[in-house]
Amino acid sequence: MGSGKSRAARALGGVDTDNLVASAAGKPIPEIFRDEGEAVFRNLEEQTVVAALGGGAVTSPAVRDSLGNALTIWLDVDVDTCWERVRRSDRPLAQDEAEFRRLYEERRALYAEVADVVAKDMHDVVLAAAGVHVERGAIKRLGDLVPGNGPVALVSDPHVAGIHGMDAQLALGARLTEMHELPPGEEAKTLAALDRLWQELRLDRGGTIVALGGGCTTDAAGFAAAAYLRGIDWVPVPTSLVAQVDAAIGGKTAIDLPQGKNLVGAFHWPARTVIDPALLETLSEAQRLEGMAEVVKTGLLAGEPFWELPDDELVRRCAAFKAAVCLRDPHDRDERKMLNLGHTFAHALEAAAGYESVTHGQAVALGLLAALRLSGAETAVVEELLQPKPVRVDRDRAWEALLRDKKGALRLVLLQGYDVAVPEEDVRRELGRLIA
Ligand SMILES: NC(=O)c1ccc[n+]([C@@H]2O[C@H](COP(=O)([O-])OP(=O)(O)OC[C@H]3O[C@@H](n4cnc5c(N)ncnc54)[C@H](O)[C@@H]3O)[C@@H](O)[C@H]2O)c1
Repeated sequence: MGSGKSRAARALGGVDTDNLVASAAGKPIPEIFRDEGEAVFRNLEEQTVVAALGGGAVTSPAVRDSLGNALTIWLDVDVDTCWERVRRSDRPLAQDEAEFRRLYEERRALYAEVADVVAKDMHDVVLAAAGVHVERGAIKRLGDLVPGNGPVALVSDPHVAGIHGMDAQLALGARLTEMHELPPGEEAKTLAALDRLWQELRLDRGGTIVALGGGCTTDAAGFAAAAYLRGIDWVPVPTSLVAQVDAAIGGKTAIDLPQGKNLVGAFHWPARTVIDPALLETLSEAQRLEGMAEVVKTGLLAGEPFWELPDDELVRRCAAFKAAVCLRDPHDRDERKMLNLGHTFAHALEAAAGYESVTHGQAVALGLLAALRLSGAETAVVEELLQPKPVRVDRDRAWEALLRDKKGALRLVLLQGYDVAVPEEDVRRELGRLIA
C-alpha cells in the first residue's frame, strides 16, 4: 500500500501492450502475423498484460502460483514512506499505524518469494520491463544474469577482452563454450567481420551470444545474433558510456556499408541487457566525453540534469529514459525519433569530414548546440560540459549531406517536438555556425 505501484502500472499500461509484444518478439506485429501466424501473436499477447497487484494479493497461494509465468516486479518502498502516503486515506487497512506496520512486515517475505526483480522506484520498474539490469559489480554475476541455461558464446573486442574478459569468463563458468573477437571500433561493424564470426559460431538455437564491449561490439554482435540461425538470444554487456546509456538499449543492431553507417541491421531486443557501471572506470577521458554527449542529449530530452549525477545513477537514469521511449516505440516510427536530437547536424558534419577529423561525440555536441539554438533554449550546459569546437569542413559538402540525410524535407528534432518544420535558411545558418 502506498508504494506507487498503481502509478507505475499506469505508466507501463500507457505502454501499448502491442508494443511490448513487438519488443519481446523483436519484430513489428505485421511481421509476427506474416512469419509466425496469428496464434503465436495471440499467445504473446496473452503473456503481455501489465497489472498492479493489490498489496495483499500475494497472501493467496493461487495468486502466487499464477505469478510463476509473469515477470513480477516488487516495488520495494520503506514502510515510513508508504505510511506517510496512505495515513489520511480511506483505505480500510490503513486506519491504524501499528496494524499497517504489522501487515507490511508480514507481507515482505511473500513479496521476496514471488519477485523476479526488486525495484526501488519507477525508473527501476521501466528498466525491469525492458529487461535492463543495472548493478555495480554485475559482471561478476553474469552466469546468473544471462537468462536460460544453454551454452554461451562471448564476443568482445581485443582491448575490452584484455581488461574485462577474464571477469566475464569466470562468471560465465561452464556455460561459456566459445569465445570470439571482433575487430576494434567501426571495423567490427563490417560484413567481413560478421562473416568470420558467423562461420566460427558453433551455438545451436538454444545458445546465447554475450556481447562485451562498446557500441561497436554490441551493434555488431547483436546483428550477428539477429541473423544467425534466423535469430538467437543475445545479451549485451556494454562497457563504454556510449553503450551503457545508449547503444545497448532498445534493440537496434546494425553494421555499416561503404555507402553509410548502420545501413544493414535488425531490431532484435536483447534477452537481457546487463549494465555494470564499474566497468566505466577503465574508460579513457576521451571515450567518456563521447558518452557525455549522449548523456547531455538524454538529460535535455528528459528535462533533468542527468549529467550532474554520480556514474551509477547517471547510467541508471539515462538507461531508464531510453528504455521507456523504446518500449513505447520499439520500431522507431514515432516518439523514438526524439533520440536523434542534434544528430541531423552531427551526421552532416561527420559526412563532410569523411568520418575522420571529427568524432561522433564532438559532432553530436555541435549538433546539440544547433538544435538548442533552433529550439530557443540555453546552450550553456553543452558549452561547459562538452566544449564543442567548430570543425573545419567544406560548407557545401556539409549542407548537401544534411539534405541527403533529411531527403529534402527539413523537419528536425527540437525540444518542442520530434518532427518540427524549420525554414531552410535557419537550418543552413545554424549549420554554418558549427563550421570553422
Ligand atoms: N544501436 C544503437 O541504438 C546505437 C546508439 C548509439 C550508438 N551506437 C553505435 O555505437 C558505436 C559507438 O560506440 P562506442 O563509442 O562505445 O564505440 P566502441 O565500441 O568502438 O568503443 C570505443 C572504444 O572504447 C574502448 N572501450 C570500451 N569499453 C571500455 C572500457 N570499459 N575500458 C576501456 N576501454 C573501453 C573500446 O575498446 C574502443 O576502443 C557506433 O558504431 C554507433 O553507431 C548504436
